[in-house]
Amino acid sequence: MSLSERPAGVAIVTGAASGMGEAAARLMSEAGWPLLLCDLNAERLDDAADRLRAGGQADTLAGDIADAGFPDRLASALAGRAVGALIHCAGLSPTMADPARILEVNLAATMRLLDVVRPRMAQDAAAVLFASSAAHMQGATLDAEISKVTTPEAVASLAAYAPESGAAYSISKRGVMLLVRREAAAFGQRGARIASISPGIIDTPMGRAEMALQPIMQTLVDRSALGRPARSEEVAAVAVFLCTPAASFVTGTDILVDGGSLAMPFAAQA
Ligand SMILES: NC(=O)c1ccc[n+]([C@@H]2O[C@H](COP(=O)([O-])OP(=O)(O)OC[C@H]3O[C@@H](n4cnc5c(N)ncnc54)[C@H](O)[C@@H]3O)[C@@H](O)[C@H]2O)c1
Repeated sequence: MSLSERPAGVAIVTGAASGMGEAAARLMSEAGWPLLLCDLNAERLDDAADRLRAGGQADTLAGDIADAGFPDRLASALAGRAVGALIHCAGLSPTMADPARILEVNLAATMRLLDVVRPRMAQDAAAVLFASSAAHMQGATLDAEISKVTTPEAVASLAAYAPESGAAYSISKRGVMLLVRREAAAFGQRGARIASISPGIIDTPMGRAEMALQPIMQTLVDRSALGRPARSEEVAAVAVFLCTPAASFVTGTDILVDGGSLAMPFAAQA
């Protein structure tokens, strides 16, 4: 496939009503992709889709990705079409919910989403899942326990390691990173790829809410190499890149997009 081509099929963007999902949907639309946009917030999702329809096809599917019926609704919305790209941004941050809900939305629902898209991935298609720099900060200490969780039903057992929502968030996003490694071979068998992105602190409604509630976030921004939060588009552009033939050998891995936040403690020691 030449660098200017794109895979056949529709691009699914979740969390498309806000922040990085909305930005990714806009960039994918500009690149000519037919879109299927998903979000919990039906009104904002319709507004986002309306803004894109002048440029091309933008279907919508409103609903909670963690609802038991969501996978079937997504399969129906695809209506037999192949999936050319998945950019999965929908998720909850630490201050948005209790540990059980965070694990369910961020990890269990992501596994169910992959069960729908995996068998429908087109040749050269890519799935991009949103993890977090928090997953890098979590480190590998619980990787053995997280890796034992291979079904959505088993995700709730990770609550044993997550007494509060911050821990649940980090574990859920570490789970997303490990899920990508586990899924890479199955995606590869279809000629498709899967990767995650770990954003640092990003200027979205979620990022702004976390900065207001957790003062440490501003310290992390101030100490980062670039000294500022990212704009949504700066992370969305990496997700879009991963869906292009220019990223044809990138799979089973995570890309940290954090403005050099995690690099700084190491730079200080050098
Ligand atoms: N903003 C940051 O600083 C930051 C940092 C690291 C990781 N992330 C991750 O990046 C992703 C996107 O974050 P954002 O900052 O763009 O967030 P955002 O809150 O601006 O947008 C997230 C969208 O997801 C939707 N959503 C939430 N739960 C849902 C559910 N159960 N079903 C369907 N839709 C749902 C929301 O309605 C919202 O429109 C998230 O997974 C988040 O955890 C964000």
